[in-house]
Amino acid sequence: MNKETPLVYELSQEGKKGFSLPHSHFDSSDISKLVPESLMRDPEMDLPSVSEPELVRHYVNLSQKNFSVDTNFYPLGSCTMKYNPKINEDAARFDGFANIHPLQPEDSLQGIMKLLFDLESSLKEITGMDRFTLQPAAGAHGELCGMMLVKSYHEARGDMKRKNVLVPDSSHGTNPASAALFGFNVVEVKSDERGRVDLAHLKSLINDETACLMLTNPNTIGLFEDDIQQIQKAIHDVGGLLYYDGANMNALLGIARPGDMGFDIVHLNLHKTFSTPHGGGGPGAGPVGVKKHLIPYLPTPLVKEEKGVYSWDEDIPDSIGKLRAFLGNIGVLVRAYVYIAHLGREGLKQVSQDAIINANYLKKKIEEHFTVPFPGFCMHEFVAQAVKQNDLGVHATDIAKRLLDFGIHAPTIYFPLIVAEAMMIEPTETESKATLDQFVKVMLTIADEAVEFPERLHEAPFTLAISRPDEVKAARNPILTYKDYRASKDNNGSSSISTTGVPVHAG
Ligand SMILES: Cc1ncc(COP(=O)(O)O)c(C=O)c1O
Repeated sequence: MNKETPLVYELSQEGKKGFSLPHSHFDSSDISKLVPESLMRDPEMDLPSVSEPELVRHYVNLSQKNFSVDTNFYPLGSCTMKYNPKINEDAARFDGFANIHPLQPEDSLQGIMKLLFDLESSLKEITGMDRFTLQPAAGAHGELCGMMLVKSYHEARGDMKRKNVLVPDSSHGTNPASAALFGFNVVEVKSDERGRVDLAHLKSLINDETACLMLTNPNTIGLFEDDIQQIQKAIHDVGGLLYYDGANMNALLGIARPGDMGFDIVHLNLHKTFSTPHGGGGPGAGPVGVKKHLIPYLPTPLVKEEKGVYSWDEDIPDSIGKLRAFLGNIGVLVRAYVYIAHLGREGLKQVSQDAIINANYLKKKIEEHFTVPFPGFCMHEFVAQAVKQNDLGVHATDIAKRLLDFGIHAPTIYFPLIVAEAMMIEPTETESKATLDQFVKVMLTIADEAVEFPERLHEAPFTLAISRPDEVKAARNPILTYKDYRASKDNNGSSSISTTGVPVHAG
């Protein structure tokens, strides 16, 4: 990767051109007769004068400054950044899916409606739930939908005092945030020394004010909550509901179903498990599945089928309403449908089995060099700690940064919050043994470097255009134009930074 690529504005030379237009008889001075004065740009736009190859190189170089799952191994725990088969991208771009409008007459939408209906059937079978809404646009949006369903359910029964939502301390931050956003009290449940929900603590917190428990299984430490039967009984016995955060479903496909574990509501992250890249702010989908007793509250519309004809079902009198305009992110739904159809029952099961075996392989290979707080079998991801390295003055962040020099994206670090110096590693099912072995080799090299020259690691990465951006500033004040970039350089000599930590040289 180039450390410094010349900026297109800096290559600009008067007279250089990246295009040639055929001769025109149009006199540019006539423009003022055609376009009202008030709409004319003054001063003229300050565009660089560069040749076509310079312009092409500018954009291609920019496109290569970032890590992506298509360019690098991406062992990002909790977020399932797995490789997404390109056939699913092609399908999502078919004219018949990409260029339709939701307000077209139903008889011209039968193809997509059948796809949505069949996708819902597959999700029901995969999770053991009775109906799904495909509307939510992300996992967090699914959680919000779930909280609305919980509230509607209790209120419809006249059970107005259910104000507490229980959330384990290992949960993803969106869980308590979604509950709080919808007005519930968030009650934190401790994890035990095995990294699972502390059953005794949970039992001490539940009562007739418990609206629901939000649980991720396997949890964010990559461990299966093996007390799930007792947990579900304890919650249901007091009249509460059980919400399943399905962001880690990549570990359970074809192996176990949240519906069978006793969950009442489930969200899935299609943009993790089912073939849409997660992250980057792109569109996602967080469908929510429910058991029968919650169907009356689902958002509208749903798709129904009668004698092979599909139509919108708006007739759900107790519905919480719409969560999004129209039907959700159709492209993501199409990708998920193709992914599921292409893999089939056995293929999906193999996805999870391979994800689990890959994680356990990596865990075993690195556990002598990095502390693994919860030894034993893990599911699709595991947490390691930079504890020995910490004693040498090297932190999880230094290891994460150094990995970038070896062409490997950093794992999730400092999450879950309950594990100090956490590095959360999820290799996913799509990586070969050679890639996993390369990762192990690099991790062991970095462990050696931490002993030999700990100080140096504080400056990693050494090979990228940006080394240690101010991440808060990059997120809050991204510099997106060349003018602002120059101004920031002139002011403090520092490079401009985008939210991705890559200098933004856009003009
Ligand atoms: C366990 C867990 N729950 C919920 C979410 C939220 O999903 P989203 O980012 O789609 O809102 C994530 C996402 O990263 C997650 O890892």
